[in-house]
Amino acid sequence: MIIARSAQELRNALDSKTGSVGFVPTMGALHIGHRTLIDAARRENDTVVVSIFVNPTQFLPGEDLSKYPRREEADFKICELSGVDVLFYPDVSTMYGRDEVRITAPDVRGYILEGASRPGHFDGVLTVVMKLFNLVRPTRAYFGKKDAQQLSLITQMVGNFFMDLTIVPMDTVRENDGLALSSRNVYLNPSERTEALKLSASLKRATKLVMQGTLESDAIKAQMLEILEPLEVEYVAIVNRAFESIGRVEIGNTIVLVAARVGSTRLIDNVWM
Ligand code: PAJ
Repeated sequence: MIIARSAQELRNALDSKTGSVGFVPTMGALHIGHRTLIDAARRENDTVVVSIFVNPTQFLPGEDLSKYPRREEADFKICELSGVDVLFYPDVSTMYGRDEVRITAPDVRGYILEGASRPGHFDGVLTVVMKLFNLVRPTRAYFGKKDAQQLSLITQMVGNFFMDLTIVPMDTVRENDGLALSSRNVYLNPSERTEALKLSASLKRATKLVMQGTLESDAIKAQMLEILEPLEVEYVAIVNRAFESIGRVEIGNTIVLVAARVGSTRLIDNVWM
């Protein structure tokens, strides 16, 4: 595995490769969710590139940028063992200069739900992903449905800017008890870890209701909120794949999302139905 820390090192590493390039952008603290993306990229491409970069522009002031988990050695091992060909591991000065051009998330889809809770977050995500795509020039890039709105906006950006790559969505990987894997789960103490199960439990309830024929969004949301109740809920939402709020679940075109605080940790989860 080649570890490239600069744009030039990355180019040198990739110029000798032929065939398709599968790319998995991450912020590190890699877990089985990331592993699933890397494994898919490995199966489907000649060359696999993973990036690890804790992108400062997607953190709002007061968020967890400085305490975001950093696990350099373990992450390098995981990439090596997963058959990654090139690990791109830039520092902030490689990725950003002063007074730069930026990508702005769309006015509506970029500023509802996660974008309302974290205004400007998606500007930072789209900007860094655009930079990473231009550096890596992937054939396919792999993203988790866990970050549904991020996946949707990146797919939209690729379309809007006529970019020549395929976005591959990947299902959310969960612990046996239902908790969606997240690098932020390390912030949870044992009792918060138990409380956090309320997010996936509320989504399971939503799925069960839909399977039983309850399709009205308000009825589903009310029952989800009952389960989530003691938590500080930021939003419960039922949207179509274009992230428009819908009054009734449309099977095959619906995402049910939840964001809540467990102690001081902000968690998100969703189910696609
Ligand atoms: P990060 O949170 O490290 O996630 C990297 C990728 O892993 C994302 O596509 C995310 O959706 C996916 N992922 C996270 N948890 C998952 C799970 N439990 N199951 C399946 N996939 C999962 O998302 C980011 O980094 C950043 O915003 C980034 C896109 C790298 C831009 O900085």
